[in-house]
Amino acid sequence: MEGRDLVRSIKAVGLVGAAQRVRAVRAAWRRRRADAAGLPERGAERARVPGPVQGVEPGPGGGVVRFTRSELRITVATSGAVFWGWDGAGPEPSYALAGPCPEPDPRAVLEPDKDGAWRVVAERVTVVVSRHGAVEVQTPGGVLLRRDLPPRWWEPVGGGAARWMQRSEVSADARFFGLGGRASGPRLRDGTYRLWNTDPGHTFAPEDDPLYITMPVQMVVADAGTHLVFHDTSWDGTVTLCGGEEGAGSGHDRAGTSELRVDGGPLRCWVMVGTPARVLHAWAALTGAPALPPPWALGHHHARWGFGSEQEVRRIVSGYQEHGLPLDAVHLDIDHYDAHQVFTVDKDRFPKLPLLAEDLGRDGIRLVSIVDPAVRSEPGVAVYDAGLAEDAFVRDAAGRLVEGVVWSGESVYPDFTRARVREWWGGLYEERLTQGFAGFWHDMNEPTSFAAFGENTLPRSARHDLEGRGGDHREAHNVYALCMAQAAYEGLCGLVPKERPFLFSRSGWAGMQRYGGTWSGDVATGWPGLRASLSLVLGLGLCGVPYSGPDVGGFDGSPSPELYLRWFQLGAYLPLFRTHASLRAGRREPWEFGEEVLAHARVALVERRRLLPYFVTLSHLARRTGAPYVRPVWWGMPEDRALRDCEDAFLLGDALLVAPVLDPGADRRAVQLPRGRWYDTATGEAYEGPGQALVEAPLSRIPVLARAGAVLPVRGADGGLELEVWAPRRGRTGGGFVVADGGDGWDEPKVERYVTRWKKRRVVVERHEGDGPGELPYPVRVRGLARP
Ligand code: GLC
Repeated sequence: MEGRDLVRSIKAVGLVGAAQRVRAVRAAWRRRRADAAGLPERGAERARVPGPVQGVEPGPGGGVVRFTRSELRITVATSGAVFWGWDGAGPEPSYALAGPCPEPDPRAVLEPDKDGAWRVVAERVTVVVSRHGAVEVQTPGGVLLRRDLPPRWWEPVGGGAARWMQRSEVSADARFFGLGGRASGPRLRDGTYRLWNTDPGHTFAPEDDPLYITMPVQMVVADAGTHLVFHDTSWDGTVTLCGGEEGAGSGHDRAGTSELRVDGGPLRCWVMVGTPARVLHAWAALTGAPALPPPWALGHHHARWGFGSEQEVRRIVSGYQEHGLPLDAVHLDIDHYDAHQVFTVDKDRFPKLPLLAEDLGRDGIRLVSIVDPAVRSEPGVAVYDAGLAEDAFVRDAAGRLVEGVVWSGESVYPDFTRARVREWWGGLYEERLTQGFAGFWHDMNEPTSFAAFGENTLPRSARHDLEGRGGDHREAHNVYALCMAQAAYEGLCGLVPKERPFLFSRSGWAGMQRYGGTWSGDVATGWPGLRASLSLVLGLGLCGVPYSGPDVGGFDGSPSPELYLRWFQLGAYLPLFRTHASLRAGRREPWEFGEEVLAHARVALVERRRLLPYFVTLSHLARRTGAPYVRPVWWGMPEDRALRDCEDAFLLGDALLVAPVLDPGADRRAVQLPRGRWYDTATGEAYEGPGQALVEAPLSRIPVLARAGAVLPVRGADGGLELEVWAPRRGRTGGGFVVADGGDGWDEPKVERYVTRWKKRRVVVERHEGDGPGELPYPVRVRGLARP
């Protein structure tokens, strides 16, 4: 570990005092000793490549191609997704898949190609396997999207997990996105990205990597098309990206490369090809539809580590009310636990939580509880005793409990990779429900154990059930939080069958969206942290996790009023809109930054509430199509290279383009516009894309542009739903979707579709043909009629 990291992690641990620091040193030693004893030395290794092709065996949706030293199984699924696995690897078992593996497409068959190669031709993609085991993904028109060179394995001579490496080439113009939550993106620059969920142990800035959520999910966007690749292995690894270079017409392009090195697990992947929307649709079909947050979770949340008492919570809530600021949820952090122990309450400072929840509930404000996985290993701690009786905690190879150190002190960790443990843990949320909590915030679940040196997680040798297969932490680490989310989600579905669970989790993995969302973790207070917040939300959205947002204002220190306001204004357009900060940070309530900030923050909050029906609609569309609410500006036009490189603005659904202010002192900014007409929603001024526009960005607001022709649902002055329509260009049409709020239950309201067009000199709105009677159920307000 580098000196800087050592100092930072000791500082982070220092948040809980000297005793904890001593424990962190002990934990690090323990971890080191455990691994020395519990993990075999790798020793000598033998390298292997597939070798020349020997023959094929056609099967449903593709078949098996045999090489001298390996075999490759390819299957095209009916959804259009392609699977391939080396060394006999099939798609299951998998923590990412939402259900059984999709059916093979019987129309896709393995057939001979030229030069001894084989190919599978499917409707949307062609896969060509060379005679030495290179795999090419091509568009139906035969344009190359990705070329995987023959993989390489390193096998310990004495047996054990093989390491492997997969090098891939993409076109020279391609851009990389994804790999989970990365702070330096959304476009991933050249460099090495680790696949190991990590609490950095301090607040993070764009240069910190990896963070809490890593995923072997890559979205590659190029002129020739977009594709998503998922390497389904949870083992530790790295991805080294290097963008290509175009030879300016000389014909000497240098391909972009991606080199994946993994410490173990199957070498298998899924590839999806098409438009960004189609690719994410296929991804959600494979790994699960995003959970639908209840409508209140799309409002404003206020959190703080260290409210410290019920009175303080009430004081803050009154502050919101007295200042006319909408508030939908309050989050209680670990300081409301008894001695930092999960599933307990500090009865001195929070004596009447259920009553507090009830009082807040009357004002439409929900209580959300933090839930940490670690359990203090002390007889008498009820969850510890119960967990022991269930044999729920992670043990080492010798059968001893594995201990780590977190806020609760020396603690043990439930093994969420065992179904019975998930069931037990899920049942524990009943205690939270009786306290009046309506939502859950999973934290420290990378899992984290403070360490004064080395990695701050469990020893790699720690044993896990892995659904009965058995294995160690090297394989279980990255799916730990995913399995914890599953435990909570399924438990809550059983405990409150009529309500959709609301949970979000700091760590996770591919497929986590089916249980809930995430937030950006402990982002450093500063302008770079603000930028990182947007990077994380965009990147996670492209990995199929549409619901997330940052700690508005940053986690530590005290933002300047300007920074706080700009963060607040961005947060107001992100799915999870939450103010939160650390124990020792300055205040984060909007009235703590002076009158001017308060007035502008109020505008942002009121606008968020006005847009709630639009957010609800986006949440339903995400559930049905996998499309994130927050999308890169290239979403509909990935072929526009200027858009591909634009990282400081985003589309909120189809209708809005949000251009946050990410730099101090700015009162206007350039916005890269996709094709079409865009109206500044504040001034009504129209701009024509593609190209750049310079728009006003006074302190009172960030630029939000509406697409000409957009129809979006908003909350009218009387609280009812209204359609806001932005005039299409003359001679053009437009439209939009409305999914009316279905409450907190499981009802799936209908998707209504509206179209708009010019009729003589008026803009009219109609229900989409076949969508029921023509009568419009909502009032309509047309905007953008002033001449550009
Ligand atoms: C972690 C979380 C943070 C929380 C703190 C105390 O740092 O990321 O959000 O406030 O723990 O629970």
